[in-house]
Amino acid sequence: MQLIEHLNWRYAVKRMTGAKVPEEKVQHILEATRLSASSVGLQPYKIIVVSDEETKRKLSPLGMNQPQLLESSHILVFAAQENITAQHIEDYIALQMKIKNAPAENFQAYKETISNHLLSRTADANFNWAARQAYIALGTAIIAAAEQKVDATPMEGFNPAGFDEILGLHQLGLKSVALLVLGYRDEANDFLANAPKVRKDLKDLIVRFDAA
Ligand SMILES: Cc1cc2nc3c(=O)[nH]c(=O)nc-3n(C[C@H](O)[C@H](O)[C@H](O)COP(=O)(O)O)c2cc1C
Repeated sequence: MQLIEHLNWRYAVKRMTGAKVPEEKVQHILEATRLSASSVGLQPYKIIVVSDEETKRKLSPLGMNQPQLLESSHILVFAAQENITAQHIEDYIALQMKIKNAPAENFQAYKETISNHLLSRTADANFNWAARQAYIALGTAIIAAAEQKVDATPMEGFNPAGFDEILGLHQLGLKSVALLVLGYRDEANDFLANAPKVRKDLKDLIVRFDAA
């Protein structure tokens, strides 16, 4: 039940105090995020961690000047790969071989299957797929932050091309898709602090096919 309490505690904070999140908590959130599931296991994204005030000041206008950006401790930028290349698949198979201490031939059939699937698609299709995997990681990070009693505001209200430019993401083969702003809620100034959580009833969200 503790997880449900953490999820009820969290909300998308609009005003933060500027207090710093301790590095070990940031690391814990990132480690949980690293363990996210992804399709094929490829983890086709990176997470850019911005804590430097100067960079935050440059990013803020591209995030519609939403106050939590400047009042945050860290901004996590979830950036998906622009495409999936043969090298990405090679690197993934090499990682499998290393971690499982197994020879290349064990992964040959798997490599062919995923290569045929991913390398035949357009860059656009692969980017959209990569972005969906990044959103799974975003969800993990939101939950991990709540468990650490760190406030975390997911954000799509920003200019991705502008963020990519400032952070040099194109050179890394990445495009930003979502943000997670970490910090601590400013209860006195946040109109949403202590607001009830608005969610559909479970009966309106779930469709079940159970045995009669
Ligand atoms: C993908 C995504 C994008 C969002 N973008 C923004 C945003 O740009 N700015 C903001 O203040 N809140 C943003 N939110 C927060 C939602 O408005 C909020 O999660 C939703 O209203 C549910 O409320 P709660 O998370 O506070 O419980 C976003 C949430 C998600 C999941």
